[in-house]
Amino acid sequence: MESLSKIIEILRNQKEVSGEEMASELGISRTSVWKNINRLKGKGFNIISSRRGYRMIEEADLLLPYRLRGLINTKIIGRHIEYFAHCDSSNNIAKKLAREGLKEGTLIICEEQEAGRGRLERKWISPRGGLWFSVILKPSMTPVEAPGLGFLTSLSVVKTLRRRYGLEASLKWPNDVLINGKKVCGVLVEVEAEMDILHFAVVGVGLDANISIKDFPEEVQDIATTLKEELGREVDRAKLLADILSEMERNYNSFTLYGLESIFQEYIDLCSTIQKEVRVVQHGREIKGKAVEIDKEGALIVLTSEGRVRITYGDCFHLTNT
Ligand code: BTN
Repeated sequence: MESLSKIIEILRNQKEVSGEEMASELGISRTSVWKNINRLKGKGFNIISSRRGYRMIEEADLLLPYRLRGLINTKIIGRHIEYFAHCDSSNNIAKKLAREGLKEGTLIICEEQEAGRGRLERKWISPRGGLWFSVILKPSMTPVEAPGLGFLTSLSVVKTLRRRYGLEASLKWPNDVLINGKKVCGVLVEVEAEMDILHFAVVGVGLDANISIKDFPEEVQDIATTLKEELGREVDRAKLLADILSEMERNYNSFTLYGLESIFQEYIDLCSTIQKEVRVVQHGREIKGKAVEIDKEGALIVLTSEGRVRITYGDCFHLTNT
């Protein structure tokens, strides 16, 4: 990655550079320069090679670590970055790396996922232009506290979207982010744990950023949205990601120090599920009623025809808009 970043920097600063010049500046062979140029082309950089040398036409909007490093100002989350142009699922990679001992805060970014996964074993469509990333976390807590990681992450996305773009983003219990009632982002938390100790958690975020809604399958076009659709323009994904990570680190610190209570009120204030008629689908069970409360453990309390029901997981649908 070192050479790649340096080559990008050289190409950005000069109109045209010969392979020889580049090789001597970097202290590598011309063959290595050529190989690295091909890698950059593979990552989407538009580099023209001629007899006079190399010229970069435009920089692709990629989440390359060298660019992110200049933007991320956290202490833990995103300090180490693993970048992939393609992958099956960033959560899969994160779990593998966490098992291999990669440290807390490691950020895994995929430009495109071939087998992106959503909650409740659903497929997550992840074309280029979205923000698909996972973070390895190793908090000392029990597995029952892990859903808090999903709450703090979705809260961080909502706050960032509101502050950065003035969008009226809200939360749908437990972890969805909505804009104008349509889903723009989902969070998938996966853990490896024993009964009373969490070994690690992987928090995966899927944010539909620079994607046209037409690029999604028809069945989701009415229920999903993207930042590009809402704003009428593309966003700078690297800056957005850096902001989300800062917010996430702040919330993660208070959550690990002071518990869910420390972020709970903000979550409630930004949650649009409360006071709505809802339908919650669990494996083989459906609960309908009015969502009246989220309790201190993060469970949704629904008032049904049979009384109050406490719901800890499931797919929640808002049946009313107001
Ligand atoms: C949901 O169902 O709402 C959760 C979607 C989570 C998708 C993200 S994209 C990055 C990470 N990798 C995955 O395979 N899934 C998560």
